[in-house]
Amino acid sequence: MRTSVIAGNWKMYKTVAEALEFFSRVKLADNRDRVETVVCAPFVTLPALVKEAKESGIRIGAQNMHWEEEGAYTGEISPSMLTALAVTHVIIGHSERRAYFAETDETVRLKTRSALDHQLTPIVCVGETLEEREAGRTRELVREQVVAAIQGLSSREVCHLILAYEPVWAIGTGRSATAEDATDVIRFIRKSVADQFDQQVANQVRILYGGSVKPDNIETFLQSGEIDGALVGGASLDSDSFARLVEAAARRGDLG
Ligand code: PGA
Repeated sequence: MRTSVIAGNWKMYKTVAEALEFFSRVKLADNRDRVETVVCAPFVTLPALVKEAKESGIRIGAQNMHWEEEGAYTGEISPSMLTALAVTHVIIGHSERRAYFAETDETVRLKTRSALDHQLTPIVCVGETLEEREAGRTRELVREQVVAAIQGLSSREVCHLILAYEPVWAIGTGRSATAEDATDVIRFIRKSVADQFDQQVANQVRILYGGSVKPDNIETFLQSGEIDGALVGGASLDSDSFARLVEAAARRGDLG
C-alpha cells in the first residue's frame, strides 16, 4: 500500500511566531509513522520550522520555487536555497499560483523537473475550474495538466511525485467534491500516468485530494483506498485539526 500523505498548505498565513506556536501545540498520535506528514509554510518561516519540526516527525515544505539554480530573478527562491535548509517538499502549480501569478503547464513542468533534480518531493496540483467542470472538460483538462507535468521524466522520477487533484471550485469554499467524484477523477489521473508510463509506475504515485478537506470529512475520501491523502489549506492552520487529519490518514489502511 502506498504511504498516506497529509500536506498542510498554509498559504499566506502565519508569522514566524505564529508558526512556532503551532508546532509547540501540535500533538500527533503514536501511529503518525504511517503517514508522511508535511507542512508547506511561507518562505520566511522555513528556517525556524525545519529546526522546530525535527522532533515532531513533520516534514517542512515550500509552496513554490523557481526552477533555476540562481540568477537575476528578483523576489524568487531557488531549489538549492530550499534544500540548503533541509526543506523536503514543494507545492508546484497550485491553482492560486496558476490564477494569480501566471503559472502555466510549462512552468509547472520546469519546476517539477528542477525539484526532482534537487531531491525535493514535488506536490504537483491539477484541477478544473467550475466553468470547465460544467462544460464537461474535467478529464481532458486534468489529463493535459498531468501529462505536461510528467513529460520527460523517467519512471523512477515519476514514482517520487505526489500529485494533488484540487478542483478549483472546492478550494477554500467549504464545498468539497463528493468522495465519488474525487475518486473517479483520481482513478482517471492514475490511468493517465499509466498511459504515459505503465501501470506499475502509476501504482506507485501518491495522488491526493484537496479542496475543503476537514477532520469531519477526510475519512470519506480515504475509504476507497484510491485516494492517498489530502492537501489541506484552511483546516491545516489549527494544530488540533491538523493532528486529527493525520490520525485519520494513519487509520487509512484500516478503513474501507
Ligand atoms: P482548502 O485549500 O483546504 O482551504 O480548501 C486547499 C488548498 O488550496 O490546497
